[in-house]
Amino acid sequence: MPDPSDLIEAINRDGYRALLDRVLITEEQLGRRIAELGEQISRDYAGKTPLLVCILRGGVMFLADLMKRITTPHHVDFMAVSSYGIGARATRGQPRITLDLNTDIRDRHVLLVEDIIDSGHTIDHVLRLLQTRDPASLRVCALLNKPARREVYVPITYLGFEIPDEFVFGYGLDLDEYFRNLPFIGVVKKEYQ
Ligand code: IMP
Ligand code: MG
Repeated sequence: MPDPSDLIEAINRDGYRALLDRVLITEEQLGRRIAELGEQISRDYAGKTPLLVCILRGGVMFLADLMKRITTPHHVDFMAVSSYGIGARATRGQPRITLDLNTDIRDRHVLLVEDIIDSGHTIDHVLRLLQTRDPASLRVCALLNKPARREVYVPITYLGFEIPDEFVFGYGLDLDEYFRNLPFIGVVKKEYQ
């Protein structure tokens, strides 16, 4: 792992190109798959006014594009979860809710919208918490799944893409808080993983 100040210097000089090994999922591929997910969700939740719950911050780009593709009436709300751990890439330790819902979810059809399921601990924690509030249903829609790193079982009903065990960034996902704005998903160079 290079010195963090070298990383920031490289980013300021060359932008994402300093860190990018290769593009894994293009903007076009994301758009096509999200349109399909939107159609499927619209069909499955017709007449149910689901509540889409975006997990901040990584899920924000995915939610924004997904909700444009959902034709059935729905509501949105937000949660934020942080993991204790060393460095932005560590997701160990007990997740902590740093922003909770404003919506009462009792008897609501809740669909969690998450960027990536990695170890599974974050979404597992959120699922357990929300289940105690008696929603009518509770499901997960994840853009990315890294099954190689799973530590706890997570039921994923809607999935964008399965990806290999490599650190990715862009389209909401960050690399030390940078690059959430990129319209594609890229793989970080080995030396920065
Ligand atoms: P989990 O609790 O291990 O499933 O971690 C989920 C969270 O870790 C995601 O919501 C992301 O914020 C972060 N994360 C996991 N893998 C990556 C990655 O490859 N790139 C960026 N963030 C990641
Ligand atoms: Mg996240």
